[in-house]
Amino acid sequence: MSERLWLVVPAAGRGRRMGAALPKQYLALAGRPVLAHTLARLHQAFPEARLCLCLDPEDDRFDPAWVPFARWRRSAGGDERADSVRRALEAIADEAADDDWVLVHDAARPCVRVDDLMRLLAALRQDPVGGLLATPVADTMKRDDGQRHVVRTEPRDGLWQAQTPQGFRLGLLRRALDEARALGREITDEASAVEALGLTPRLVPGRRDNIKITHPEDLALAGHILAAQRDEPRSRPGHEHEERP
Ligand code: C5P
Repeated sequence: MSERLWLVVPAAGRGRRMGAALPKQYLALAGRPVLAHTLARLHQAFPEARLCLCLDPEDDRFDPAWVPFARWRRSAGGDERADSVRRALEAIADEAADDDWVLVHDAARPCVRVDDLMRLLAALRQDPVGGLLATPVADTMKRDDGQRHVVRTEPRDGLWQAQTPQGFRLGLLRRALDEARALGREITDEASAVEALGLTPRLVPGRRDNIKITHPEDLALAGHILAAQRDEPRSRPGHEHEERP
């Protein structure tokens, strides 16, 4: 079995929901672009991994000095996130084998913890399918009628919020994304493409501070999270993952 690890980082979004002049991966967070933080976390966890970074071909803001990996390449982003990831898999096909592991991690999640990254990969290596970091849903979930009125409360038991990284072996991930595309399925993460093949990705409990920067207020929150992570004593491994809210 292959032990080779690829990291695919989709960073080709234009950040329309942020309403900012810059795409979110380039916004300044604690003095550095969001993307530089994300790459630094991934590198701390997996210094030997090979990186493929998906960038908008028209992007003139990216600076290679932010990439701490010795082995890396860039690939052209697509219209949707899933297209960016699919193109990255095509871009690494010359060097990657079907049983290589691929972890896909959003550029916009700079607060992911190094120990969660390592725990995720260890868990995936035990799994025949692959899986993702996720957290059990804590809030009460409401279904609307399309006009901002509640029609019912959805049971939250067994519901999880998907995060990234999401990791699968290259051959399986490529098959899943190709099939989703061929069938015109809308895919917002890798796991849903794999699920559509009838497989059951593993849920690896992550932490709630692995937020995705999506809305303007998320940037300040990410700044607070990074500061709190720097200040905290080394946590007891696994401690927070045992409880369900
Ligand atoms: O827009 P969303 O929050 O889903 O973006 C998640 C990640 O996917 C971001 O890091 C963004 O840069 C990336 N993305 C991409 N190509 C797209 C759209 C989003 O690489 N076409």
